Amino acid sequence: MRILLLCSEFEGLIKTGGLADACKGIASSLQAAGHQVTVMLPRYSNLYSRPTAQWQSVFVNLGGVEYGCAVRQLRFAGIDVRLVEHDDFFHRERPYDDGSYGYADNPLRFAFFCKVALEWCRQHMPDVELIHGHDWQTAVAAAYLKQHYAADPVLGRVPYIFTVHNGAYQLTCDKGWFGKLDLAAGDDHFLNMLEQGVRYASKISTVSKGYRDELLSEPAANGLATLYQQRAADFVGILNGCDYQQWDPATDLALVQNYQQSDLAGKAACKAYLRHRFNLSETAVPLFVAVSRITGQKGFDYLIPALRRWLPNTKAQIFMVGTGDLQYCRQLYQLQDDYPAQFRFFEGFDETLAHQTEAAGDFFLMPSLFEPCGLNQLYSLKYGTVPLVRLTGGLRDTVTPWPAENATGIGFTDVSIEALLAALEQAEQLYQQVNDYRAVQQRGMQQNFSWQAAVTEYLDLYQQALK
Ligand code: ADP
Ligand code: GLC
Repeated sequence: MRILLLCSEFEGLIKTGGLADACKGIASSLQAAGHQVTVMLPRYSNLYSRPTAQWQSVFVNLGGVEYGCAVRQLRFAGIDVRLVEHDDFFHRERPYDDGSYGYADNPLRFAFFCKVALEWCRQHMPDVELIHGHDWQTAVAAAYLKQHYAADPVLGRVPYIFTVHNGAYQLTCDKGWFGKLDLAAGDDHFLNMLEQGVRYASKISTVSKGYRDELLSEPAANGLATLYQQRAADFVGILNGCDYQQWDPATDLALVQNYQQSDLAGKAACKAYLRHRFNLSETAVPLFVAVSRITGQKGFDYLIPALRRWLPNTKAQIFMVGTGDLQYCRQLYQLQDDYPAQFRFFEGFDETLAHQTEAAGDFFLMPSLFEPCGLNQLYSLKYGTVPLVRLTGGLRDTVTPWPAENATGIGFTDVSIEALLAALEQAEQLYQQVNDYRAVQQRGMQQNFSWQAAVTEYLDLYQQALK
C-alpha cells in the first residue's frame, strides 16, 4: 500500500516525547511489512544541517494569504522523509513552544503544514492510497480533505486515519481562526484543532484499548466525550509497540555494559555507573528511576509530596531525568537539596542518559494521572527495571501488578499520596524478597510488545477505511 504519514516528531530527527518513537515505529514496521511509506515532517532548525536530495516548491492559500515553501527529500533510516521548509514557521529550535509558552501562531503553523502536505501529495504522490496523521498537529488535514478536496481526482478518494496519542493536547483557539485557516465553523464557539481530526477523519485510533475506553467519558476526554461516542464505531485502540532494535539491553550502545535476561552482571555495572556519576552511594538499597516529561500528566502533583513523606523513612535512592514545567523542576531541585544522599535530579533532554537510566534502575516510577499508552514502562520491562505504575490507560494494559501470579510490576489505582506510598513500600518489600523480585523482573524481560503486532492492527483499520 502507498501511505503518507503526517508527523510532527520522528525518532532520530526531532523528539519531545513518545510521539516521536511511535511515528518512527509505525513507519518502519509498515515498510518492513512491504508497504511504501512517505513521512511528511516540518523542517525544524536542527534539521537544516541534514543534506537533502530533490525538492519541490509548493504554494498554498490560507485565509486569503499566499504562502510558498520547499518540500525537501531526506532519506533517513531507509525511510522516505519529506521536510516542509518554511523559515518563519519552522526554523525554531523547539517544535511547539519557547520552553514556557506555546507559540501563538501554532494554529497557523500546523494548518499550513497540513495544507502543504496535502498539496504536495496531490501533485507529487498521485499513487497515494491512504493518509495517516498523528495528534492535533495534523488534525485539520482531515477537515481539509472533506471540505476542500472531496472532488479532487487524487485526494477525493483517499481515506484519512487519525491517531490520538494524547487527548489532552487539543490546541484550542478563538473562533476567528476558523476563517484564518479556511475551516467550516458551524456553531462552534472556539476552534479545537484535535476535534477537527476526531470529527472528520475516516477512522480514528488511539494508542491503547484502555485509553480508548477512557476517552468515551469525561473527564478523560477533555470535553470531547460526546464526539468520541458518536464516532465509537470508527474508533479503535491499538497498543504501541517497542522498537527492540533501539531498546534492547543486549545491544544498546549507550550502556557501559550490555546484559540480558540470563546474565544480569551488566545491569549491575550500569547501576554502579549511574550512581557514581550522580553521586549516589553504592549500598544494598533499591534504586528507583524515572525518565519523563515533567508535566502534570505524569503525576508530579502527588508524586513530589509523596516523596517528601517517604524519603525520611526509607534508605532507597531515586534518580530522575526530565524537562518541563518550572514549578515542578524547582520542587525537584529542592528535594535534592533536602535529601542529597537519596535523591538526584538531572534537568535536561538527553537520550543517551535515558537509556542508561532505564538500564540502571531496580524500579521505574510512572504514577501518571493518565497515560494513553506509555513507552517507558515497555522499555523498563525489557531492561529488567520493574515498573511501578498507576493502573490507567496503557499502563493498565501492559503491566500486571504484584502479587498476581504473572506479575510484571507494581501497580496502584487511586490518585493519592497514600496509595502511592503504599506502592513504594510494596516495591521495597518485593525487593527484599529476592526470589520474588527476580521472578517479576524476569517475566517483565520476557514480554514482547512488537510494532509488528501494532501494524497488523493498523493495516486492518486501513482496509476498513478503504472499503
Ligand atoms: P510521553 O510521550 O507522554 O512523554 P512515553 O512514555 O510514551 O511518554 O514516551 C516518552 C519518550 O520520551 C520515551 O522515549 C522517553 O525515553 C523519552 N523522554 C522523555 N523525557 C526525556 C528526557 N528528559 N530525555 C530523554 N528522553 C526523554
Ligand atoms: C503520548 C502519550 C503517551 C504515548 C505517546 C506515544 O505522548 O502521552 O502515553 O505513549 O504519545 O503514543
